[in-house]
Amino acid sequence: MRTMKGFSIIVATDEERGIGKANRIPWNISGDMKHFKDITTATYADGCKNVVIMGRKTWESLPASFRPLPGRLNVVVSANLSYELPVGVMRCGSLQGAIDLYCGEREGSFGEVFVIGGAAVYAEAIKHICCKKIFRTVINGKFGCDTFFPEIPDYFRECTRSEIYKDKKLTYYFVELISDRISK
Ligand SMILES: NC(=O)c1ccc[n+]([C@@H]2O[C@H](COP(=O)([O-])OP(=O)(O)OC[C@H]3O[C@@H](n4cnc5c(N)ncnc54)[C@H](OP(=O)(O)O)[C@@H]3O)[C@@H](O)[C@H]2O)c1
Repeated sequence: MRTMKGFSIIVATDEERGIGKANRIPWNISGDMKHFKDITTATYADGCKNVVIMGRKTWESLPASFRPLPGRLNVVVSANLSYELPVGVMRCGSLQGAIDLYCGEREGSFGEVFVIGGAAVYAEAIKHICCKKIFRTVINGKFGCDTFFPEIPDYFRECTRSEIYKDKKLTYYFVELISDRISK
């Protein structure tokens, strides 16, 4: 029987669970960008790149100089079979397809798997039985977002919360939540 190793979600939200406005992230916090890079790049098995799965609109929202995200296998979810992507960036026709492919236990193939947004993809991912962890950055304040992270189900419980950090006028902190539905 093939086992699934599970995946994590990583997201930054404001106090209202807002994540984006006009297809961009309405804050620019270098400490959070470093946190995102460190968590999604860190590998635990030699030579295995982590996988970052994102919706097509999130891919398009990344500045050209940032994409593909280096050091990670970039996977873009799009139903458009002819959507063009650079060499080395993978397209999957559905989130489930990406999970089947990259969370299937194939020793030595891939490292950790992260779903990195946006709202459409988070909404499906958070309900998925293989979603084991959420790395959430909370930015204090309201940013008039038009795109939101879904309500977090009760079976996710907070396991760590950082101190409060400051970036110019903004304050933010990091929270990790783990799912009671998955054992590891
Ligand atoms: N704050 C954060 O941490 C964070 C992180 C990421 C993104 N964001 C923000 O989120 C916003 C984008 O989110 P969004 O919800 O508008 O778009 P999205 O989730 O990034 O992309 C939606 C697109 O992904 C594809 N897709 C999603 N689910 C699919 C499925 N099950 N099967 C096939 N295709 C699927 C579809 O592409 P096709 O139309 O091509 O089929 C769909 O139009 C932006 O504002 C971005 O800046 C914020």
